[in-house]
This record gives sequence, structure tokens and C-alpha cells, in this order.
Amino acid sequence: MLLFHCRAGYEADCAAELTALAAAERAGGRAEYRPGQAHVLWVTAQARDEPRARRADWVPDHAGLVFARQMLSHCRTLELPARAQWIETIVAAAKRLGRRFALAWLEAPDADGARQLLAGIRPLAEPLQAALREARVLGEDRLGMRLHVCFLDRDRLVLGASDPRNSAPWPMGIPRLRFPAGAPSRSGLKLTEALATFIDERELLGRLRAGRVAIDLGAAPGGWSQVLAARGIRVVAVDNGPIAQAVLDTQLVEHRREDAFRFRPDRPVDWMVCDVVAAPARIAALVAQWIARGWCRETIFNLKLPNKDRWQEVVRCQRVIETALAGVEGRHALRIKHLYHDRDEVTGHLRRL
Ligand SMILES: C[S@@+](CC[C@H](N)C(=O)[O-])C[C@H]1O[C@@H](n2cnc3c(N)ncnc32)[C@H](O)[C@@H]1O
Repeated sequence: MLLFHCRAGYEADCAAELTALAAAERAGGRAEYRPGQAHVLWVTAQARDEPRARRADWVPDHAGLVFARQMLSHCRTLELPARAQWIETIVAAAKRLGRRFALAWLEAPDADGARQLLAGIRPLAEPLQAALREARVLGEDRLGMRLHVCFLDRDRLVLGASDPRNSAPWPMGIPRLRFPAGAPSRSGLKLTEALATFIDERELLGRLRAGRVAIDLGAAPGGWSQVLAARGIRVVAVDNGPIAQAVLDTQLVEHRREDAFRFRPDRPVDWMVCDVVAAPARIAALVAQWIARGWCRETIFNLKLPNKDRWQEVVRCQRVIETALAGVEGRHALRIKHLYHDRDEVTGHLRRL
């Protein structure tokens, strides 16, 4: 069984995505979820139930998933006895997973009440770690595998594993980012999370280094421009709305009151970012055009989602981009993710390789 953390309210979208992927890869199994519970379980098929399933041990590529923030494999559900026996029960079950882990994360899906649930189980963290270490479940592990102890409620948890090479680097897939002092909007956190999610830290130093040039479409009041300027990037902020004075005071941000869909750069730039609120397929076509015409090398953009059939909308936008780039010379890479700081939107990254 696999467990996927997602945003509360997006379980059906996460399940639809997993079901489509599994079908394409002829992996047997089914998604189980309850609306609002902020996670989806993928129950692996038994050969007798689905004889045509080729891959009962299916584990998808986490980086390619849109709605899953985090992915746990080798999962087992555990009904908990009285609290006094929790530690020994968890340690015994963890031993049955049959491998050593480098570290253990205590977590709960990001649903209503998660904060109280986590506060209630926090006192367990230290004694549990000590008991896991003593039982040699925790110790040196070459691959750095993580043990997840994920409380669904006060009587039930899921024990699972994650591989750092195929999962998010944060517990529950939630990066804890600091809101920068004086930021004009919370929006900048989205771009910060997108950069940390899509680009390796060492690569980022080169690709977003001081002196590079970026266009920020739909920039007002300037949260994204400020994140870029903080890295020494020169930004052209395109929006009819006002840009906060603190952002202009960096002297790295030039404001242009123009339409994002008509704006053209004077010469090719390194980056284009786009947070314009418009029909998602229109944004998809716009970013594809920027890459196809070579106006920028890479782009990060937001796609606002409809109230239902959100997975289908993401697929539609992926097709718009792939179709627009089909005849264009050279390869490109596209990823789309529902970030922690996204609400009813997803964030994409498109890059010329
Ligand atoms: C969500 S806000 C952007 C927030 C911004 N990224 C930040 O960090 O502060 C969307 C912006 O898109 C702008 N916008 C909408 N349609 C536009 C268009 N056709 N051309 C330029 N800007 C547009 C709006 O004026 C608004 O300021």
C-alpha cells in the first residue's frame, strides 16, 4: 500500500491522477480516500483480483506527480492499543518492515485537526526515536531511507517508508518557509517553494545568479519580483497595478504598465515568471509561446484551477504546452505541482534543455 499526502479537498484529484497513471503503466490497484482527509491510499492489487495487472509493486515517480505532496511506500495500517503500549506496538510493527532506516518522521495528514493531533503525539517523538534506535530499526542507512509514522487519528496510524531519491525532502511534503520581512504579498512564498521544488539547490545558484534578467508577468504588488531581486536578478515587472515601493527601492525592479499577453522582451531573457489570473489554458499557451520563440530559457507560472475536474484541467494544460512545442527544435522539460503554498492553483516549471 502507498500513502500520498495532498491538500485537504484535493483527494479526488490526487486519486484521479494516480488512477490514470496506474492504468497507463498497467499497475493494478485502487485509490481509497475520504474527502477532507488530506491523503489518499493506493491499495495494491492482488494477482487473483486483477490478473492483468503487471506491476503489483508499483511505485510512481514522485517528481512527476501533480497533486501528491509526499509519497510513502510499503505502508501498513496499525490500530493502536492503549497509549501506554503505543511505543512497543509501533516498534514491533516497524521491525516487521524488515529494513533499517536513517531517520523517523512523526506526521499527520494536513486535514482539519492535524495541528492538535500533532501536538498530542509530539511527546512521543523522543522516546519513540530512542526505542527505534535500541531495536536497531533506526541507524546508519546508506540510502538515507526514512520511516514515517503517520497518525490518521488517535487510534490509527500508517507506518511507511520513503526514499529520499523519490519523495519530497520535507515531512508531509510541507516546506516551512519564513515570510520575508516587508514582503508586499504572501505570494512570494509560492515562488520560493517552486524554486526549491523544481530546481536542485546547486543548479539554482548558477541558473538564478546575480546579473540574470527576468520578466515578471502579472507582477503587482511585487512579491515574486522581490524574491528574484533578493537574488540579484534584474526584473521587468509587467502589470497595470502598482508595485510596492519597497520592491522598487531595490533598484533592480523596473515597472512597466503593459498587458502580459502582448508584452514582448526587447531581447531574449533568462527567466519569465507569470502569476496572471486568467484561464489556465491561456496561460499554458502563453508560457509555451515564450519557450517556443526563445524569449526566455525557463519559466515558472501559476495555473488557476476550476472547482471540479481539476486533474483533467491540468492534463488539458499539459497538452496545450506539448502541442505548442511539438515542432520546436530542441528538448524541453515540464513539471507541474500543487505546492503547499498554492491554494486553488498549481505551479508549473517549463525549461528548454
Ligand atoms: C495574483 S496577482 C500577482 C501577485 C504577484 N505575483 C505578487 O507576488 O505580488 C495577479 C496580478 O495579475 C495582474 N494581471 C491580470 N491580468 C493581467 C494582464 N493581462 N496583464 C498584466 N497583468 C495582469 C493583476 O493586475 C494582478 O496584479
